[in-house]
Amino acid sequence: MNKKDFPFFQNNELIYLDNAATSQKPQVVLDAMNEYYTSYCSNIHRGSHELGNKATESYEEARRTLAKFIGAQENEIVFTRGTTEAINLLASSYVKGNFDTVILSELEHHSNILPWQLNDLHIEVIGVDQDLNINLEEYESLVKKNPHSLVSITHISNAFGIVNPIKELIQIAHKYECKVLIDGAQALAHLKIDVKSLDVDFYAFSAHKAYGPTGIGALYAKYEFLEEMNPYQGGGSMINEVSFEYSTFLDPPFRFEAGTQAIAEAIGFKAALEYIKQIKGLQAHDKSLLEYAKSSLEALDDIILYTQAKNVSGSISFNIKGIHHDDIGILLSKQNIMLRTGHHCAMPIMKRLGIEGTIRMSFAIYNTKEEIDKTINALSKAIRILR
Ligand code: ALA
Repeated sequence: MNKKDFPFFQNNELIYLDNAATSQKPQVVLDAMNEYYTSYCSNIHRGSHELGNKATESYEEARRTLAKFIGAQENEIVFTRGTTEAINLLASSYVKGNFDTVILSELEHHSNILPWQLNDLHIEVIGVDQDLNINLEEYESLVKKNPHSLVSITHISNAFGIVNPIKELIQIAHKYECKVLIDGAQALAHLKIDVKSLDVDFYAFSAHKAYGPTGIGALYAKYEFLEEMNPYQGGGSMINEVSFEYSTFLDPPFRFEAGTQAIAEAIGFKAALEYIKQIKGLQAHDKSLLEYAKSSLEALDDIILYTQAKNVSGSISFNIKGIHHDDIGILLSKQNIMLRTGHHCAMPIMKRLGIEGTIRMSFAIYNTKEEIDKTINALSKAIRILR
């Protein structure tokens, strides 16, 4: 499905199953960025020449496209370098000083743990059950014990593909006057997101896991909260007035985008979202690949799968009894199969499972069942060599 749209696969004969780390980019994304650089490259929100105006319009059009894609208003989208920067921005500009406690799940990526630690926030953790699901009653009692906290939870676990019931998590958090940030890094390419119907307060994501370029992502925030927030960084293009005595800042979202913005990347991000929008059957494709991969893996001897959860998306993680995950990764790479092994930047859940890491297959629209068959054959060969 759609492989022909991705020049990467014309240049490489390999199976790429590391999409949770980053996805490949379709030609339309590369073209949009190339067009900016070759025909109207110019800085934005400064000066008044024609090229600058065109570049500014394209950048702001990207913001509008992104807002529409997730059901937000355009002034609720702050461009950042990615999910990590979006969480760090929120931690230092809003959460520190307003909250004492942040409630996380056991499945979180390091980028949803470290920003809170760096800002001296107290962390409470909601555990997951043997299938890596959050128990909503346990979650409610933790939130009840910690009202007025920030709940910050991943939409889809990058390490295990678990889709958290975020609508319910948000509703429960709001009952106890908590605010909610969802880490949507893995979700943008796999699920339909509507921030208004979710009533989520903050949502963070990156372009590069959703067929867009690296170096850009965004923080969605309800406008009323953005208005309360101080700038995260100071620099050009985010001010009203500057003197040596004092400075005043632009309204959100502009006051959070200091310095020259990632202009080409925003334009590429817009092209990626438009590309995703016209794909038919994205979620069905994802589901059928995951089910196929799971049943193929279950047929292998000595396989360890970590969840039988129903609601999974994007990734499947496993190990082979008695063999180190990195050894499998190396032997698969030698057979031209690229997937990630290790802790996937989610050490706490690995420690809880008593493992150092896993082997993870993660899927995108260009992956096929035939590629899964080849991966299983290559895996069987690697196991034979290593035994
Ligand atoms: N967070 C990315 C991953 O899961 C890098 O691989």
